[in-house]
Amino acid sequence: MVANADSVRRELPLAGRMARLGTETAFEVLSKAKALERQGRSIIHLEIGEPDFDTPGNIVEAAVDALRKGWTHYGPSAGLPELRESIAEYVSRTRGIPVKPEQVVVVPGGKPIIFYAMLALVDEGDEVIYPNPGFPIYESMIEYVGGKAVPVPLQEQRDFAMDASQLASLITDRTKLIILNSPQNPTGGILERADIEQVARAIGDRNIMVLSDEIYSRLQFEGEPFSIAQVPGMQDRTIILDGFSKTYAMTGWRMGYGIMREDMAAQMTRLMTNSNSCTASFTQIAGIEALRGDQAPVDRMRTAFQQRSQAFSAGLSGIKGFSCRMPKGAFYVFPNITATGWKSKPLSDALLEQTGVAALPGTTFGQYGEGYLRFSVANSMENLDQALARIGEWAQRNL
Ligand SMILES: Cc1ncc(COP(=O)(O)O)c(C=O)c1O
Repeated sequence: MVANADSVRRELPLAGRMARLGTETAFEVLSKAKALERQGRSIIHLEIGEPDFDTPGNIVEAAVDALRKGWTHYGPSAGLPELRESIAEYVSRTRGIPVKPEQVVVVPGGKPIIFYAMLALVDEGDEVIYPNPGFPIYESMIEYVGGKAVPVPLQEQRDFAMDASQLASLITDRTKLIILNSPQNPTGGILERADIEQVARAIGDRNIMVLSDEIYSRLQFEGEPFSIAQVPGMQDRTIILDGFSKTYAMTGWRMGYGIMREDMAAQMTRLMTNSNSCTASFTQIAGIEALRGDQAPVDRMRTAFQQRSQAFSAGLSGIKGFSCRMPKGAFYVFPNITATGWKSKPLSDALLEQTGVAALPGTTFGQYGEGYLRFSVANSMENLDQALARIGEWAQRNL
């Protein structure tokens, strides 16, 4: 008898680089929490990093209108000219730097800017310095492209602001790229102007590029955000990452952008042509409305995130074993849990399984996240209070 050719199970001939690709555990915890929910358990979702608000109505209307008007075709790889103009104008205004539309590349979300910056700049063995704990995709992508990931441990006693002198000590002849992120995921820390100027001094006149992840810039609670691109001489070496996901509660729309020197924009555009062709046209039309239309919803969301972060941090700090710095931006609370005597991962598992509160272990964000948990406060005050009550009871029984 001839064996059915399809029944022969062959090993998947994966490329070696796939072993170096990391992940974002938030999505795994989410699916575990959803599975518990399907069994009838009551789960409070504080694991996923997305605003709980709906996209403002004027933006939704603009997209529906764009669909009806036929914005359903391919567009230029770097983005529609009208949107690139709006973004250039917006970034010039918010950062106080000159930006031309040719310096803007529109992509499906903020993440592709990270991916493309690595692909375009980092050769095998090049070093990339990045914050740890930090957004897990940085480390994943550095390793995927064969770069050497060089973490700067963020310290709680500095309110998680990157220490520029520590960063300076990590710069070598192989350093190709430095990643900054403010306000920061997962700590809610920010980089003050003085911190950023120190980082720029540490870079000096070396030909090192900076990827400045400013996706939470409109969610800084106090003071004006400052970009390293504003430091004289740094704009040419900076790629600003920003987007619509967090600012306008548009995570599922998939639209973000990068601001960079024109020749770098041309290279990123080549990567877009080779991967996505372009960002969806009707979403880009809605993006123009997001930037030019009413900004009151952004202010309302920021105020809500600030109130919830403060209330949740204060509440957690009152629970045995937990202590919290007050976040300065974004929508995350990052308590120190070392006094519980538990490690991050078992503690987040226990809280999910025994109390139904879904949070992420700090180690999701790198090795220096051990000793912390991350809670997203993109949830109602009522649910946050309920989560505090459940964690409080758990702590009384178990610590
Ligand atoms: C620091 C940081 N950068 C980039 C992103 C990616 O954003 P997007 O959903 O637009 O790809 C996120 C999303 O969680 C983030 O936290």
